[in-house]
Amino acid sequence: MEDLAAEVVRRCRELAGVSEEPGRLTRPFASPAMARANALVGGWMGEAGMAARVDAAGNLVGHLPGSDPGAGTLLLGSHLDTVRDAGAFDGPLGVLAAVAAVARLRAEDVGLPFALDVLGFSDEEGLRFGTAYLGSRAVAGTLDPATLAVADADGVTVREALGAFGGDAGAASRRGERLLGYVELHIEQGPVLEERDVAVGVVTAIAGATRAEVKFTGRAGHAGTVPMALRRDAACALAELVLAVEAAARAEPGLVATVGRLEALPGAPNVVPGEATGSLDVRHADDAVRAAAVARIRRAAEEIAAARDVEVAWEERLSADAVAMDARLSDLLAGAVADVGLGDALRLPSGAGHDAVVLASLTPVAMLFMRCMGGVSHHPDESVEVADVAAALEVLNRFLRRLALG
Ligand code: GLV
Ligand code: MN
Ligand code: MN
Repeated sequence: MEDLAAEVVRRCRELAGVSEEPGRLTRPFASPAMARANALVGGWMGEAGMAARVDAAGNLVGHLPGSDPGAGTLLLGSHLDTVRDAGAFDGPLGVLAAVAAVARLRAEDVGLPFALDVLGFSDEEGLRFGTAYLGSRAVAGTLDPATLAVADADGVTVREALGAFGGDAGAASRRGERLLGYVELHIEQGPVLEERDVAVGVVTAIAGATRAEVKFTGRAGHAGTVPMALRRDAACALAELVLAVEAAARAEPGLVATVGRLEALPGAPNVVPGEATGSLDVRHADDAVRAAAVARIRRAAEEIAAARDVEVAWEERLSADAVAMDARLSDLLAGAVADVGLGDALRLPSGAGHDAVVLASLTPVAMLFMRCMGGVSHHPDESVEVADVAAALEVLNRFLRRLALG
């Protein structure tokens, strides 16, 4: 098992070299790097005995048939897109561990009655379009026309990006199929497992999230000649909003809110910014608390705009409610944790988003979290221990055997 685990870690590191940016890992939805990643992982799927294809939403799918064609399909996997300057394990670990789980079943000559599909989702992070979950929404059949019309920073829409990638958006839905569930292994991206000194834990629920693009429009002008009192500086409005977002989150227990991308245009040192856009990401375990916070932040944006005589446009890119994991699949995972000698499984919620949020509307979902060093994630220092990957692979193996027993 250590050998297989070491190979999973090695492959995550190799895959981390497949990037749109030299010297750092950045792999957005439907990019050339994503096509190369799909080819590399698709090759590993083939070696493990799966037939690999890229679906209409750019997701990589590796298929292993079961012995009983009527038994349905279990979905495993995670995502292959990344944030900007990402670590090697957020997403790829879940895909490559699932590929290793399939390789191990074949090596042990264990046949499952149900089929397995290992999915490498194309857009969990939402880096390119600020959207998140494009790939899993297509699989769940919930990708709406308004989302397909969202444009990236170059004005390319989701629909156009998918067309150029060889997909056609609508045809990836798995709705109506006999699906047994979706199970994802993911690094915890937080400190709890490390603090409790355990390798893995079973996720209880995933916090809800809202994402929006907030654009202030004022008037560009000469930095040397326009008097301060006459300026309509859009970047100043955005700066005020960033602090209002921080204050809103600090005032509400459990709320986290972030402006992670800021852009001021035209972007020259001697020009007063006429336009400024910020991305907004707001999360809370309680959907009503999140909705109220988003409404407060939106009001703050309008007040800031009015006080500074600038316009504000608010475009919501994502609203995902909190999602509870399926009790039966989670208990099977916890049983598998006990089977492999890791004791009573620690149960913990996820503050990070995952494709399971979207797939929950399609099929029962469950997640296994694995310890990552220092809880560090969305950072190139992300790292894992081979022994923890070995433990997670043992749990996945036991889980599949338990599920096969019914
Ligand atoms: C995904 O990593 C997210 O939680 O934003
Ligand atoms: Mn992530
Ligand atoms: Mn992730």
